[in-house]
Amino acid sequence: MAPLPIIIDCDPGQDDAVALLLALASPELEVLGITTVHGNVPLAVNAANARALVEFAGWPELPVFAGSDRPLRRPGIHAVRVHGPSGLQGFDLPPARRPVEPRHAVEVLVETLRTRNDVTLCALGPLTNLAEAFTWAPEIVKRVRRIVLMGGASKGGNVTPVAEFNIHADPEAAALVFAAGAPITMFGLDVTHKALVNAEHCRGFRAAGKRGAAASGWCDFPDRYNPMRYGAVGLPLHDPCVIAWLIDPTLFAGKECFVAVETESPLTLGQTVVDWWGRLGEKPNATVIERIDAEGFFKLLSERLARLG
Ligand code: BDR
Ligand code: CA
Repeated sequence: MAPLPIIIDCDPGQDDAVALLLALASPELEVLGITTVHGNVPLAVNAANARALVEFAGWPELPVFAGSDRPLRRPGIHAVRVHGPSGLQGFDLPPARRPVEPRHAVEVLVETLRTRNDVTLCALGPLTNLAEAFTWAPEIVKRVRRIVLMGGASKGGNVTPVAEFNIHADPEAAALVFAAGAPITMFGLDVTHKALVNAEHCRGFRAAGKRGAAASGWCDFPDRYNPMRYGAVGLPLHDPCVIAWLIDPTLFAGKECFVAVETESPLTLGQTVVDWWGRLGEKPNATVIERIDAEGFFKLLSERLARLG
């Protein structure tokens, strides 16, 4: 089977970094390019991280484009407390040899989707780049093969009681993307908090070689999450779930639902309202993933890190 063409829109971030390694190690996927967006750390920092990462992974020719440096309508928020000032605390990458491309990520998304209709967008950060591309060129929406995104939660947020970071960081962009009409697969905290990486997984990663050692460093970074807060042993490895689903969807299960994003209420801003039981009578706009074969997921990740060496 021909590999699936994808663009990864991200804000690395340790778990974005592991997701990129997983994608680049996987022959089922053809990574056309990386676009970055404001998020875990400011745009300039995460774009430089993405550039350093593709080189570290052994893909120096892969282009990295920086996109929107702020949300559509609000001041930006970052998650330096979670990811460290570099975004990749836990393992320092060698600096990149080549610069980030001069073109804006949104321009690249629009141009790519105007010229081809087989591209899957993997969104691992706030949805600002996608929203700007859809606003600029609405005709591209129907040419998107699928959006597979990490974001949202139907039961408990990680920024507010109900909102997850990627959606909370730009709720208007998220609302626009969910309402746009492109097929969406959503990986929210309901499933990513079941993909808990622990010390034993990290030992396995380290045995895989230098890329595995990097993944272990990023997953072991002790301040990333407060396990006491979430009542679990291990850290949620959010973004790699998106890539793993593209490689092996049998590792996951979910349900077609209507999802809306709250953009007004100060109390619930950025909440993804998942209509699990179809109470609103709206047509489903997303496949909401809620179950994972976590053992199978970590086995896949370890195997692929070992391929990169
Ligand atoms: C999401 O926010 C970031 O901290 C992670 O990279 C992930 O994309 C989890 O809420
Ligand atoms: Ca991310």
